[in-house]
Amino acid sequence: MKICIIGSGYVGLVTGTCFADMGNDVICVDNDARKVEQLQSGKVPIYEPGLEDLIKKNVSEKRLVFSTEIRAGVKDSKVVFICVQTPPRSDGSADLSYIEKVAREIAANMDGYKVIADKSTVPVETGLWVQNTIQKNIKKDISFDVASNPEFLREGSAIADFLKPDRVVIGAQSDKAREILGELYKPLEVPIIFTDIKSAEIIKHASNSFLAMKISFINAISNICEKSGADIECVAKGMSDDHRIGAHFLSAGIGYGGSCFPKDVAAFNWISGKLGYDFKLLREVERINSDQRKLFCEKISKALWVLKEKNIGVWGLSFKPHTDDLRNAPAIEIVRFLLDEGASVKAYDPVAMEKAKEIFANIKFALTPYDAAEGCDALVILTEWPEFKGLDLERIKLSMNQPLIIDGRNIYDLGIMEKYGFQYISIGRRQIG
Ligand code: UGA
Repeated sequence: MKICIIGSGYVGLVTGTCFADMGNDVICVDNDARKVEQLQSGKVPIYEPGLEDLIKKNVSEKRLVFSTEIRAGVKDSKVVFICVQTPPRSDGSADLSYIEKVAREIAANMDGYKVIADKSTVPVETGLWVQNTIQKNIKKDISFDVASNPEFLREGSAIADFLKPDRVVIGAQSDKAREILGELYKPLEVPIIFTDIKSAEIIKHASNSFLAMKISFINAISNICEKSGADIECVAKGMSDDHRIGAHFLSAGIGYGGSCFPKDVAAFNWISGKLGYDFKLLREVERINSDQRKLFCEKISKALWVLKEKNIGVWGLSFKPHTDDLRNAPAIEIVRFLLDEGASVKAYDPVAMEKAKEIFANIKFALTPYDAAEGCDALVILTEWPEFKGLDLERIKLSMNQPLIIDGRNIYDLGIMEKYGFQYISIGRRQIG
């Protein structure tokens, strides 16, 4: 099937590449000429494991092309996916101006029936507006269908999430659109949930908000554990073995970050309010999340007393492992706090340091995690990169000014920290040392 992807950001690139790998002819369009040029020459502007190789493979097999021209993309395509950004505005609502512009441009270039499927994360009723916008701007008497096909891709495992999803959600209003999109996803052999457009739009916001709520819930429990002397790991395990609760998203830490949860929780709260429902629960989810970072900063202060002129080693900057994405990363707020207090920071992250250099001019960057720990008064862990777990703890301890680790991701076993003689402060667990 010939398909067009408008917007070659994170979602568009992964979606387009995976559809191409499934045998479709895909044209990815983006209005950023430099990005398109980069992609045409085989360079991928984002870090996503496996993506570069898959792009190269499909480009060389001529199933995947890149263009700046919406006209070229829309022409002859059976499905046009909208994958443009919907950035947050200051009131929490999503900026839908890119969606509106693309809808007008698609309308102006329609050359026959198509399904216009929205993959960007949008508030409920956006499909209706896209439908009206295309209808108003379409030149000839051409029929079309609008659909909502939300994505559930996690950064760092987006390709696997695309190719082996738990489910595909297709919100459509006609049998024809359902059939075409169903055919496109059929090779994945996974459950497809067909809904109306509005329900599909809400499924996306509700899913991300629910996951964010799970994280805030377990973080709230971690605070009770700290105050009572219970252990969050035991509590989470005891809860998650109940299959109604499930094992995922119950890792307590320094809260969620990234480009999705913070934005989507705020946007869902905003659209709920606009529709006449005061979604107080979501605001509490946000509050717990932001408090969790502050509580962590307090832990650092409490452990070191005065931060001025202290050397702090930082492990992990990205908002989670396997990505270089720093958007809304807890690390940004925590490193800023350390700097504001007058501490010196030496940070290490396996892939996010280049991006971090654009944000922090006044921190040092280490070549290895050992280098970051050397000579520091405290080592602070902000992202749970797997490579941190297997390091030589004796070597780290001996190289530090004092053996103090403040771990925002609970990566180490308490017994091991005790054995090595660290002072170890983590989340929702007893303090060692
Ligand atoms: C999230 C969703 O998981 C995807 O399904 C969705 O498609 C995507 O947003 C999106 O809307 O595009 P992502 O932001 O890549 O994906 O990252 P997650 O793996 O969901 O993690 C989000 C944050 O929650 C991270 O900061 C992570 O450290 C934190 N987290 C996650 C916890 O603090 N505890 C947990 O138990 C799990």
